[in-house]
Amino acid sequence: MTEIPPLVIMGDAHLMQAQRAVPPDELASPRFQDRLQVLRAAMGHYQGIGIAAPQIGWGVRVFCMGIEHCSDRYADAPQIEFQFWINPCVKSTGSETAWAWEGCLSVPGMRGWVERPEAIVVSGLDESGQSVDTSLDGFAARVWQHEFDHLDGVLYPSRVVHPRWLVPESSLRHQPAWPKDWPSEGANATPPGALSARA
Ligand code: NI
Repeated sequence: MTEIPPLVIMGDAHLMQAQRAVPPDELASPRFQDRLQVLRAAMGHYQGIGIAAPQIGWGVRVFCMGIEHCSDRYADAPQIEFQFWINPCVKSTGSETAWAWEGCLSVPGMRGWVERPEAIVVSGLDESGQSVDTSLDGFAARVWQHEFDHLDGVLYPSRVVHPRWLVPESSLRHQPAWPKDWPSEGANATPPGALSARA
């Protein structure tokens, strides 16, 4: 049985620094491959839809993401095929942006209303070291960008531009009872796992 490492929580220096790229010989090693599976298991254990290596104290440019069954934390999210990303980079971003309620396993109990590009072109390596180039949009692009930020030591609260747009997670369960324009029109009408074209 895989031993699940503890989550690293906001405030830990490891979450606030850029991580190192993985060289090819390391990627091919059994130890690295084992740690990939630990990362995947941790994502499932903590019920994430994505998790980055630094969140389990592993200082490399690696994350995984996927929604292969209903997520309680993001009830309105679409399915996303499970995928590992190693040494990922952003090739280009679309000009359109979207807004969404983000959460993070390393920022427990909070949600933030965050604007990011709606579509991205990205590249990186998969778990076997093969190059992957792909375009992502919608919620998959959102999750990818959130996880990618972790590799540069960026947590989503630093992308929340208005204090009112950072709320306790429990507030979202009462979203239908919020005043119409609070905390903004888009934030009011958008459940976790969905995107909004307006703030
Ligand atoms: Ni996160």
